[in-house]
Amino acid sequence: METRSIRLRVKRQDRPQAQSYWQEFEIPYKPQHNVLSVLMEIRSNPVTREGTPTTPVVWEASCLEEVCGSCTMVINGRVRQACTALIDKLEQPIVVEPMTKFPVVRDLMVDRSRMFEILKKARTWVPIDGTYALGAGPRVSAQTQEFGYSLARCMTCGCCLEACPQFNDHSKFMGAAVIGQVVLFNMHPTGAMNKDERLDVMMGEGGVSDCGNAQNCVQVCPKDIPLTTAIGELGRQTTIKALKDLLWR
Ligand code: SF4
Ligand code: SF4
Ligand code: FES
Repeated sequence: METRSIRLRVKRQDRPQAQSYWQEFEIPYKPQHNVLSVLMEIRSNPVTREGTPTTPVVWEASCLEEVCGSCTMVINGRVRQACTALIDKLEQPIVVEPMTKFPVVRDLMVDRSRMFEILKKARTWVPIDGTYALGAGPRVSAQTQEFGYSLARCMTCGCCLEACPQFNDHSKFMGAAVIGQVVLFNMHPTGAMNKDERLDVMMGEGGVSDCGNAQNCVQVCPKDIPLTTAIGELGRQTTIKALKDLLWR
């Protein structure tokens, strides 16, 4: 009788500048496995399919429930979270690679600093003045709350940047994630106080006008963030701001 197993082909890299190489692993089949739990099993006994002992595969993870975004990798050619990539729904051997738009730290772990630096540059937060109780916030309509919530689900996983043809080493394009967050904080009654600063960043180098509108981002976003709507909205806001700047000169 044929025994079922799970086969995983992993693209590995020992150091940031090192050459990558492939290793294949095989573990006995168990129901309910996902790519992360298979990587955990391999870590407890790192031996390749050919029986050669090797180093444990390195990856990043935290929440294990598609909330933190840190386990994002390319699985069977599609960027997604390893913790929710169910084995029973994947073709084998399952091919697992690190994201290509961020520098590899080791194996499947990448350095997503570029994305976080972009969010910092665009000031995607509401500044508060001190830690005292600020009282009730301004009233916000249910419709605005709903749209805001759809944008607030972003977990900075980087899927939209991995899939974006405009986001790469040769371009300064900031990508879709920050566009969604700028729209979110610009629509917040308190966040709107810094709207102009955010728009200036998004009108500068690598800003919203560099988006090619290929819409790959919206297709891969695991949180179904309305990125196309956000890109359109930010285009509108930056056009108004450019006209205002012209009149006030
Ligand atoms: S629409 Fe296309 S170019 Fe614009 S952010 Fe999305 S994937 Fe990138
Ligand atoms: S917009 Fe979607 S794909 Fe992009 S970082 Fe946020 S959650 Fe991930
Ligand atoms: S471990 Fe947090 S999204 Fe997968």
